[in-house]
Amino acid sequence: MSRRLILSAAPAILTGAPRTWSEVEKLLASGNVKGKLAKADLPTPALIVDLDMLESNLTKMASYLKAQGRAFRPHAKSHKCAEIAHRCLKAGAVGACAAKIGEAEVLSDKGVGGLLLTTAMVGKHRIERAVRLASKRPDTIFSVDNVQNASDLNDAARVAGKKLRVAVDLNVSNRTGITPGEPAVGLVEQMTKLSNLQFAGIQSYAGFAAHIHGFEARKKGSEEAMGRAVETRRMLEKKGIACNWLSGGSTGTYNIDSHIDGVTEIQPGSFLFMDIEYNRIGGKDTGEVYKDFQNSLKVLATVYSKPTDEFVIIDAGLKAFATDKPFAPEARDLPGVKYGYAGDEHGKLDLRSATKAVNLGDRVELVVPHCDPNVNLYDKMIAVRGEQVEAIWTIDARGKLQ
Ligand SMILES: Cc1ncc(COP(=O)(O)O)c(C=O)c1O
Repeated sequence: MSRRLILSAAPAILTGAPRTWSEVEKLLASGNVKGKLAKADLPTPALIVDLDMLESNLTKMASYLKAQGRAFRPHAKSHKCAEIAHRCLKAGAVGACAAKIGEAEVLSDKGVGGLLLTTAMVGKHRIERAVRLASKRPDTIFSVDNVQNASDLNDAARVAGKKLRVAVDLNVSNRTGITPGEPAVGLVEQMTKLSNLQFAGIQSYAGFAAHIHGFEARKKGSEEAMGRAVETRRMLEKKGIACNWLSGGSTGTYNIDSHIDGVTEIQPGSFLFMDIEYNRIGGKDTGEVYKDFQNSLKVLATVYSKPTDEFVIIDAGLKAFATDKPFAPEARDLPGVKYGYAGDEHGKLDLRSATKAVNLGDRVELVVPHCDPNVNLYDKMIAVRGEQVEAIWTIDARGKLQ
């Protein structure tokens, strides 16, 4: 077929037919965008996710864990999006982790079950909502690291005539949790005496290990930390307390923790999107750069000022990125170009070492330093495939910090 024939048979969008902003606005509002909207039409700054990459990341993680015989419960704190949680379930996940009760409520309302709250429900507002959530979704598991909190949860569950499934949260990362070994066993013994709690197993997230640079060092760190959780599991079983579930792990340690006997479930989050911080931890077989998963998440921006030939200004500044890391977003499609924050609304692209021209109106895609808090800055995520927009996803649990 000649090039002319191909072009005449293609829909207007592929031929680059001009489109008014009003037309784009209507499409964006309708949400019915598949085959009708191009990346080039999008207003910026926009949070975009490349579907081919997202799907590849999900398939890779799900099939790896399946081959290892481990359950897969991805952490929704990364994506906060019911559509993505459902895609994970379709790929074989047993449910979703949530960091906050508000996140879990939103996911539950959108039809996501198998929820694991990875932090403790302390305080009236959390406890009452936990009982309410458990009434709707009895398979929800709540993490506990303190005997008073166990007792408070038990009292609230008794008043409601419910039973809560609870996990003991272990401190293997100097954050939340009770000390593994005897202290944890003691807490579980207390928990099993509380008639409105049902002991589900162990929650053990070794966050410090996730970002250890170098695979061998990371392996050593994670094996030591998760080893303490496995030992706690053995101690419980020795006492006759059934403990057939132990959840933990991350994007950085999925291929370590899923090889540890006694760890039954992995709860990674960032692997769906990836970010610069994760790229820098080093891979098992890929040297300095961690490439197990692709950078599907980017901020799309527009060049809207070119004051000199040495730099341009784009419309994505401090408000478009999470700025908690000591490194800047990266415009990887523009070799030699360096991004710098230039205020709340502006980013500066240094062109002095650029290998191609960058001009007013050009679109730029930037890989983000840290995906989780970056997602939380946006209301919507635009799902693209190649140059086409396929869907607009609401970031349902955005801002659900309580
Ligand atoms: C308790 C818990 N589990 C799992 C994860 C997932 O880690 P990652 O996003 O590094 O895969 C996190 C992330 O902070 C977490 O807090």
